[in-house]
Amino acid sequence: MAIRPILTAPDPRLQAVSTDVEAVTDEIRALIADMADSMYQAQGIGLAAIQIGVPKRVLVIDLDQKEGEKNPVAYINPKITWASDEMAVYEEGCLSVPEIWDDVERPARIKAEYLDSNGNKQTLEADGLLATCLQHEMDHLNGVLFIDHLSRLKKSMAIKKLTKAKKLATA
Ligand code: NI
Repeated sequence: MAIRPILTAPDPRLQAVSTDVEAVTDEIRALIADMADSMYQAQGIGLAAIQIGVPKRVLVIDLDQKEGEKNPVAYINPKITWASDEMAVYEEGCLSVPEIWDDVERPARIKAEYLDSNGNKQTLEADGLLATCLQHEMDHLNGVLFIDHLSRLKKSMAIKKLTKAKKLATA
């Protein structure tokens, strides 16, 4: 297990469309462990593999972290099979979009299917924060960031801020 650096926008790798995992092997489970380590180190609640530069359809989410208690859940090849007409708004942030938070509207409830870390097919119905988090992370698999859901003006302001922060970091 290892903590890997998290890519931050703007970075063309974050726009990549990730590919399906063909078989859930030890290599994939090692990737999941690295993703969880990297997510906890950065104090996040969700991470997509592309955020550590691996273009595979793998997510790790942990919404019930407590001190000394970690419950990371891996979602491999996740797909939304149903989304409610009812929408919900959450203020979102992203480890790949540091220091920026904004409201994003998404379906309030979803049904999804995915493979677990043993390669078994699972289905779930989610609402609340989990529904939002899953949709946010699944967006990453298609090269989409939450700032892509904002108005053009807000998005361009966000990208300006991110570009400036990157320049300062490398100066
Ligand atoms: Ni994100």
